[in-house]
Amino acid sequence: MKLLDGKIVADLVQKEIQKELSRELSGMQPRPPCLVALLTTDDPASLHYVKRKVHACHEVGITSRVIQCNPKETKELLELIDSLNEDVSVDGILIQLPLPLHVNLSQVLQRVDPRKDVDGFHPINVGKMFLGDPDAFYPCTPLGIKVLLEYYKIDVSTKHVVIVGRSNIVGKPLACMLMQNAPGCNATVTVAHRHTTNLQEICLAADVIVSAVGKPNLITADMVKPGAVVVDVGITKVADANTKSGFKLVGDVDYRAVSQKVSAITPVPGGVGPMTIAMLLKNTLKSFYLHR
Ligand code: GUN
Repeated sequence: MKLLDGKIVADLVQKEIQKELSRELSGMQPRPPCLVALLTTDDPASLHYVKRKVHACHEVGITSRVIQCNPKETKELLELIDSLNEDVSVDGILIQLPLPLHVNLSQVLQRVDPRKDVDGFHPINVGKMFLGDPDAFYPCTPLGIKVLLEYYKIDVSTKHVVIVGRSNIVGKPLACMLMQNAPGCNATVTVAHRHTTNLQEICLAADVIVSAVGKPNLITADMVKPGAVVVDVGITKVADANTKSGFKLVGDVDYRAVSQKVSAITPVPGGVGPMTIAMLLKNTLKSFYLHR
């Protein structure tokens, strides 16, 4: 069984970015890339993720700024986004999700300048991704999964990939990316979701299972074909008396049993999570090159 170690691959990607930036910035480049993250809630998980993103930026030489706000209405956030769109010193804008319920998600995501949309959530980028346009910003988690599989030479071409979860952030874009007629893609993709009745049968037919639901132990060993590849995107905090903090993070997959059966599997934590952050850095570098 091969462990698909996202930490190792993300570190390699980050080192490359760091090297590239130190080369760029020793030349004529007047300033480093800049990412601005908008944090609109005091949700501890969002705060944690934004801190990790900021830390990663710092490590590779990308400057970053976190704007913490508590928008009373959508308009407030739209005005803030307008000012960041116009600010020539800002390359990438990231709006940490979820937003507060009273804020209109679609209006907010559409307000970000598509050229600064490092999360790839703007409909222009979603549309370009749909068409397989390499100039698009691709969403970080699906892109990270693709890069991780490529690094470990897991070719999805002609394989049956079952994606469990149809979110706009992971399931839908990943399906779109892996089914493209392009190198490293050409998979046959099935997307399952909460209304799928025969999940076990569908998963048993998969060469690659990607689970992105956020439900511990959703994927059990009796749902996995021997030798399959399993990518676990789920991340849930569960109580654990054996740890100092009193909790631990688990994925969607019953790791202990499933890892006995598969040819490769991602751990949680240390699998997809670090890859998401590495791809955010890559997208920020891409937006930097677009703006200079
Ligand atoms: N919330 C959960 N995943 C993500 C992500 O990839 N980007 C942003 N901005 N928010 C998220």
